[in-house]
Amino acid sequence: MKILVTGVAGFIGSHTAERLLDMGHEVTGVDNFSDYYDVNLKQLNAKAVKNKGGTIETLDLRIDELSKKIGNDFDYIFHFAAQPGISSTSTFEDYFSNNVLATKYVIDFALKCASLQLFVNIATSSIYGLEATFPEDRAPEPASHYGVTKLAAEQLVLQKSRELQMKACSLRLYSVIGPRERPEKMYTKLIACGFNDTEFPLFEGSQSHLRSFTYVGDIVDGIVSVIGKETLVDGEVINLGTEIEHTTQEGIEAVETVLGKSINMNVIPKRAGDQLRTKANIDKARKLLNYDPQTTLLEGVRHQVNWYKKNFID
Ligand SMILES: NC(=O)c1ccc[n+]([C@@H]2O[C@H](COP(=O)([O-])OP(=O)(O)OC[C@H]3O[C@@H](n4cnc5c(N)ncnc54)[C@H](O)[C@@H]3O)[C@@H](O)[C@H]2O)c1
Repeated sequence: MKILVTGVAGFIGSHTAERLLDMGHEVTGVDNFSDYYDVNLKQLNAKAVKNKGGTIETLDLRIDELSKKIGNDFDYIFHFAAQPGISSTSTFEDYFSNNVLATKYVIDFALKCASLQLFVNIATSSIYGLEATFPEDRAPEPASHYGVTKLAAEQLVLQKSRELQMKACSLRLYSVIGPRERPEKMYTKLIACGFNDTEFPLFEGSQSHLRSFTYVGDIVDGIVSVIGKETLVDGEVINLGTEIEHTTQEGIEAVETVLGKSINMNVIPKRAGDQLRTKANIDKARKLLNYDPQTTLLEGVRHQVNWYKKNFID
């Protein structure tokens, strides 16, 4: 199959592209290598994809020029590119342009792909709001510009399925962890603080937040499992994540256990829009995709520490 992966140089997009190549698919990736975080990390991710035989085009999806830069003979599109996370350095315009406008242009491109079997939109548990413990038919209550714009993107994609213009589904991911996790996120930052003996900036009260911390390999299992199931998943929203909840404090302790040392905390003011509880309800994913994530938090953290050590310490 010929597959387009947007956001290919990012954390989850690069892992997915590698898995698709391992499965024998032909992968073209696109990314604008935005400077939201260290571009060198994205270059490393892209290199790993290229080493497995993937092709990567540098382009900005906020400009409607996909058709000019790549052919339109794709069988599947996996759309990861986004302005992710809740960040005080990202403006509403960043969220709107990268999440809504760019998605509209990727959809316009998809409609030109005559052989397209499925458009797979990558969404987020942030669409549910401050608490994300629900099945997919729960009314969305996003509490951040990130969540609102990801909901808009999801609806733009599903609109085309409803209009019978293409088959499409949207996968809502839960707190993904593992090698290549974005540097501003909890585990990569914790591990860096542990190795460098610096203080971890802990959002006030966040120790008791509950999260479905899901290992990236388990997330990728769910994402690629839609291939060949387009009739089953068309028009569907599907949660992907672990059903096992951990507090942020337990996450901190897992890193301390693996590193064999304690990490000093620096408590900083809480973040508006931060989710209080996420627990993936994956009944639908189990039924439609036989989804069954198995990696424990400690195993996931071990993989992430090993990756960090190999790339940034040794
Ligand atoms: N990391 C998580 O825990 C998590 C959880 C839920 C959902 N998601 C979703 O998964 C997807 C990937 O997230 P990630 O954590 O890998 O983030 P990431 O920032 O590592 O990856 C996103 C990639 O998209 C690229 N990109 C952004 N805007 C672009 C544009 N206009 N044109 C071309 N490329 C562009 C970036 O350069 C980056 O490489 C996102 O859609 C995000 O909303 C992530």
